[in-house]
Amino acid sequence: MKTRSFLFLTILMVLFGAYPVFDSSVANAAQTNTLSGEIPIGAVWSLTGDAAVYGPSQKNASELAAEQINKSGMLGAAKIKLITEDDRSTKEGAITAFDKLIKEYKVVAILGPTLSNSAKAADPIAQAAKVPVLAVSNTAGGIVEMGDFIFRDSLPEMLVQPNTIKQTKNKFGYKKVAILYGNDDVFTKGGYDAFKKALDDQGIKILATETFNKKDSDFSAQLTKIKGLKPDAIIVSALAEEAASIMSQARQLGIPASVPIIGGNGFNSPKLAQLAGPAAEGAITGAAWLITNDTPGNKAFVEAYHKKYGANPDQFAAQAYAGVYILADAIKTAGSSNPVAIRDAMAKIKNLDTVLGKFSFDSRREPVHAPVVQIIKNGQFVLFK
Ligand code: ALA
Repeated sequence: MKTRSFLFLTILMVLFGAYPVFDSSVANAAQTNTLSGEIPIGAVWSLTGDAAVYGPSQKNASELAAEQINKSGMLGAAKIKLITEDDRSTKEGAITAFDKLIKEYKVVAILGPTLSNSAKAADPIAQAAKVPVLAVSNTAGGIVEMGDFIFRDSLPEMLVQPNTIKQTKNKFGYKKVAILYGNDDVFTKGGYDAFKKALDDQGIKILATETFNKKDSDFSAQLTKIKGLKPDAIIVSALAEEAASIMSQARQLGIPASVPIIGGNGFNSPKLAQLAGPAAEGAITGAAWLITNDTPGNKAFVEAYHKKYGANPDQFAAQAYAGVYILADAIKTAGSSNPVAIRDAMAKIKNLDTVLGKFSFDSRREPVHAPVVQIIKNGQFVLFK
């Protein structure tokens, strides 16, 4: 009789969750709470295709961070094994990469993909498999909303652009602007939405809203119309290659350098100045990181990156580098390489020292740290003052 009551009580406790015996995450966490061996982490970057201006620096920086973490013994006997896939800047490429990383390589977390457009297609695969994703360059809206396994360390346009508009308006005193944006990409459209809201909120008149599509290379019709309206500034939401063409063509058409071109996260690549040359001078962008940041470890990061790759890191590199450290911190805190335990530890990260600054996730898994505004001077990004 006693045994029967005990059995009955146990069944009740299991049913009401007091004994989490059906929760595989708890079972796995218990098995893996002594870290050892290789911890497979996926990284999905745009190494070829339209966004290949960003992917290589993300790859370089993530590999540098993994190398440093492994050398430092931060994860005890365990080592991070970074498995990188190229999504070719496409949704299809990102879906294939996520599938392969999760099913074949059994990764415990994924960094990337580079583009918000691809993230919208691929992240649901990781969410369904309960594998955490840390986006390090997706800045459109609707990313973390895909599920509780989706995080980002990249500041969204909605958070960055009010500050960009405020600072540039204060400096130039502009009252009327024109907008040009790509309306067939999740990020360029999201950037437009963020700029439109910030301009409306700050009482700036929008004289014209012009659009373009992926692969367009001739922007003269839109820019001719914009020139005729004599805006005080031009707001552009575009990826770097398109942005470079827009800048070059704007100046060729005679829009004077006194009309600044202001953009979002797509501008944050040294490729912009390389491609647009003198036409990029004075271009302004909201950003999440500046090379001269006085944040813990930033100087050492810039030096180590330069030493290894012979070039300066850009903002995409800094966010990817911080991303690997954020994941490593979550793994260390969890004391486990179980994806659910990593997710739970990551959700609790607060005031972690990173090259981006003191870093926290808010309750929606969005990043919390201050944005900056930068301007291209002599072909280099410097702080906009
Ligand atoms: N920030 C760009 C995006 O979100 C790269 O797609």
